[in-house]
Amino acid sequence: MISQFIDEDVFKYIENFSSERENFKELVDYAENNRVPIVSQDVARFIELLLKIIKPKNILEIGSAIGYSSLIMSKASDANILTIEKDEETFKILKENLKKYDTDNKIKAINDDAISALKSMDKEEKFDFCFIDANKSQYEEYLNLVYDLTRDNALILIDNILFRGFVAKDEDNKRYRTIIKNLKKFIEDVKSDKRFTASLLTVHDGLLLLRKE
Ligand SMILES: C[S@@+](CC[C@H](N)C(=O)[O-])C[C@H]1O[C@@H](n2cnc3c(N)ncnc32)[C@H](O)[C@@H]1O
Repeated sequence: MISQFIDEDVFKYIENFSSERENFKELVDYAENNRVPIVSQDVARFIELLLKIIKPKNILEIGSAIGYSSLIMSKASDANILTIEKDEETFKILKENLKKYDTDNKIKAINDDAISALKSMDKEEKFDFCFIDANKSQYEEYLNLVYDLTRDNALILIDNILFRGFVAKDEDNKRYRTIIKNLKKFIEDVKSDKRFTASLLTVHDGLLLLRKE
């Protein structure tokens, strides 16, 4: 699906490059076999590199799924990670994976809707890095809540921002109309939001990297 958006040869070339140092292969295989959406290999490598540069102490993740990106972030940093996953069945698998792979107990997982979890969080709990990868139609609400929970200069990374490329196109897509409309609005709002410096990156189907000013 993504390869229809990026030139197919380029897509394969990048995935091949990025998967050479693949970690947590068991989780990648599980995700592939059970249609669990996890970050692509090129996004995983980008996150690793970013974390090695900024060295965060506290990370917030919205949308854990089975824990793949949490574990990637844990391996690439010394940070404590708080991750939120709404779906109960997915959460059970997440907990199993954390039991097995999070040997330093750096990752704390919350089984709740992100909006309610973020609203009930202590505002003193300031995060240096936040990875948003949950309901695409709620990105604006997540960002507004995350704003109060992050330090100045914190980085916020948002996945799938171009949603398979549809966000950059004018054509009507009945199936994903609402998601595309909401993402377009979100991007326009961020563009003029003085609270952040923003960069739209063409890694996989788009990453939005924000720095809180
Ligand atoms: C793309 S997956 C996350 C993948 C994960 N970040 C990774 O790369 O390993 C999105 C996850 O967000 C969860 N999710 C969706 N809406 C949510 C919400 N409102 N609150 C918390 N989690 C949510 C879904 O259940 C799903 O497991």
